[in-house]
Amino acid sequence: MSVAVIGASGTTGRALTALLEADGTPFRRASRTPAPGATRFDWHDPSTHRALLDGATAVYAVPPPTTGDPLPAVRPLLDLARRSGLPRLVLLGSLAVLPDAPGAAEMEAEVRETPGWTVLRPAGFMQNFTGAHPVAVRLRERGQLLSAGGDGRVGWIDARDVASAAHAALLADRTASEHRLTGPQALSHREVARVVGERTGRAVEVVEVTAAELAGHFRAAGMPEPFADRLARYNASIRDGGEGGLTDGFARLTGREPGTFAAFVDDHRAEWAAG
Ligand SMILES: NC(=O)c1ccc[n+]([C@@H]2O[C@H](COP(=O)([O-])OP(=O)(O)OC[C@H]3O[C@@H](n4cnc5c(N)ncnc54)[C@H](OP(=O)(O)O)[C@@H]3O)[C@@H](O)[C@H]2O)c1
Repeated sequence: MSVAVIGASGTTGRALTALLEADGTPFRRASRTPAPGATRFDWHDPSTHRALLDGATAVYAVPPPTTGDPLPAVRPLLDLARRSGLPRLVLLGSLAVLPDAPGAAEMEAEVRETPGWTVLRPAGFMQNFTGAHPVAVRLRERGQLLSAGGDGRVGWIDARDVASAAHAALLADRTASEHRLTGPQALSHREVARVVGERTGRAVEVVEVTAAELAGHFRAAGMPEPFADRLARYNASIRDGGEGGLTDGFARLTGREPGTFAAFVDDHRAEWAAG
């Protein structure tokens, strides 16, 4: 087996390549700006797609981020994968259904027409509260957690667990399945703030904002406008139920329980202590 990993520099891709490295599964990193040994791949440049599939028996596909309509960019690779008989394709989808963005569901439907498909549909990543995500930057710099979602809860999952799920899906006997992945608890933003405060000793204030204000914050951080608006409106929709309940999709795929938010915070304590 040889796995081509799209998004290898990203939140789940980095953790996935570490797992593949650890168990000796041959893999190649794909990137728009590849380091030596990696493959150049750009969703928006179909001339790079053949090289991605060359010698690959499986692909982990992180679709182009920050767009509500990834299908036009993804379709050429799906066509090529079918034509060239790629045995296995694991797509990173999402449990979040952004408003006015039917393209993501259309993309998942088209992936299901591709032999050897698996679709992972994770809940919000715990990593949204760390690193470069605009919510994380405000949290780190000002101790404020911006939310338009009231007391609505999300089944936050550690992106390292999403990578473990991808790893299991790539190596599983079974394909043609969709996996809804959540962490072990559904937490509101207020509960997230409480856990961060308790585990790090840092006071975190939840600042309730409107969807429009949150969209402005996302845009100011550099997110493209239509995506920023949809993401903010999605965040506000959590107030009314959002992503729904918890699933056992992770345990069924990997045979173990997903990590808790408290454990995630413990692993990233330095991130918030620095603020
Ligand atoms: N954040 C969440 O809460 C959440 C929850 C559920 C699902 N998801 C899904 O997770 C996916 C990734 O989101 P993320 O924010 O965590 O991003 P990420 O994986 O950290 O980063 C995006 C990756 O995509 C690659 N990339 C960007 N544009 C590309 C292009 N045109 N062609 C090829 N590769 C490209 C980048 O690689 P290079 O720069 O090296 O090219 C980078 O490795 C999204 O599809 C999102 O729907 C996210």
